Amino acid sequence: MEFKRSIIITGGAGFIGSHVVRLFVNKYPEYHIINLDKLTYAGNLANLKDIEDRPNYTFVKADICDFDTIMALLPEYHVDGIIHLAAESHVDRSIKDPFTFARTNVMGTLSLLQAAKLYWESLPEKYEGKRFYHISTDEVYGALELTHPEGVKSDVSAHEVYGDEFFLETTKYNPHSPYSASKASSDHFVRAFHDTYGMPTVVTNCSNNYGPYQFPEKLIPLFINNIRHRKPLPVYGKGENVRDWLYVVDHARAIDVIFHEGKTAETYNIGGFNEWKNIDIIKVIIKTVDRLLGNPEGYSLDLITYVTDRMGHDLRYAIDSRKLKAELGWEPSLQFEEGIEKTVRWYLDHQEWMDNVTSGDYQKYYDNMYKDR
Ligand code: NAD
Ligand code: DAU
Repeated sequence: MEFKRSIIITGGAGFIGSHVVRLFVNKYPEYHIINLDKLTYAGNLANLKDIEDRPNYTFVKADICDFDTIMALLPEYHVDGIIHLAAESHVDRSIKDPFTFARTNVMGTLSLLQAAKLYWESLPEKYEGKRFYHISTDEVYGALELTHPEGVKSDVSAHEVYGDEFFLETTKYNPHSPYSASKASSDHFVRAFHDTYGMPTVVTNCSNNYGPYQFPEKLIPLFINNIRHRKPLPVYGKGENVRDWLYVVDHARAIDVIFHEGKTAETYNIGGFNEWKNIDIIKVIIKTVDRLLGNPEGYSLDLITYVTDRMGHDLRYAIDSRKLKAELGWEPSLQFEEGIEKTVRWYLDHQEWMDNVTSGDYQKYYDNMYKDR
């Protein structure tokens, strides 16, 4: 079958990647979507069961650091677009094992960039009609002050805000964790490939995502699962850190718009205008889970357990994504109240998915199905 475009999505078996793959496979039957994923602990092909048999979808198990394999894949599939999400993504793991983060996030991104450069420059049309889209995080900008600890109304945000400053596309990079340092480094490499070789790149920096298929090491799925099993809820420090939360499908929608319409060499911030203190969001989760499980209100509040703070814990993230709205018309479609209700319901309704992920069974099953590249 002849396809109009051939796009590699790296990290497509992970949380955000699986939503991006699903959106592209469904919305663009004329595109060939190649999901390239190493299937680390965070990759799970069960996230894509509903689309795995589609004629425009191919899964390739490969490591982005394996330059020779990537070099072979690009011409094999005539790839003209790369949407790069594969990464080590959990801050706590980066504090324990920074080398893995430098390898995947920095060297892996460089390996993709160099392979794309060599392949695209070898074609008669070179970079024409090509795009390298790198997905990054708001954490590269560092941490913002909590100048309004009680929260104030603002015309920038749908919710209360906790400080006067927001991350803009022009905010200076100031990463603090090994995770954010590795993502910052990869962002610099992507921009360097545009500035040096003329590669048509685009970079986006997004805030915290929530929704179905997130690995339960991250706050929201971990806490939903712990409440269900009456396990302690480990709140780092005083629970006063602030994060800006965006429903994952809205992030995938933004990626679609930016992949197609974003300007080359541009950076776009993506965020929910939706700041929450950790302890407040935790109380919303407890209330929602208790209601859906038929527990009396307040039943699971006793599970809250204050624990030692994360090392170097960034105090506040808040994205200003007005540039994306003004230039490309994107804005979040879901209100947080609706998004969190959908999310909690999804995890409670998909206990088998959660049990497989927490037991590690999903990896044994898929290891037997696919040969490594
Ligand atoms: P995730 O950890 O859920 O998934 C990462 C995926 O990458 C997994 O499927 C994993 O198997 C794959 N992978 C890891 N190392 C690989 C390698 N060497 N080769 C090939 N595949 C590999 O991550 P996520 O939360 O979906 O994040 C996806 C991207 O979005 C990351 O780049 C992350 O930095 C960025 N991001 C995440 C958030 C968030 O809130 N989760 C917010 C902003 C940006
Ligand atoms: O801002 C975007 C980033 O959001 C992404 O780049 C990262 O890949 C993603 O993991 C996420 O990073 P955070 O560190 O903000 O997410 P996490 O879910 O780990 O933690 C959210 C907040 O909750 C953070 O302030 C730490 C706190 N926390 C987390 C866990 C897992 C707890 O208090 N207890 C916990 O057990």
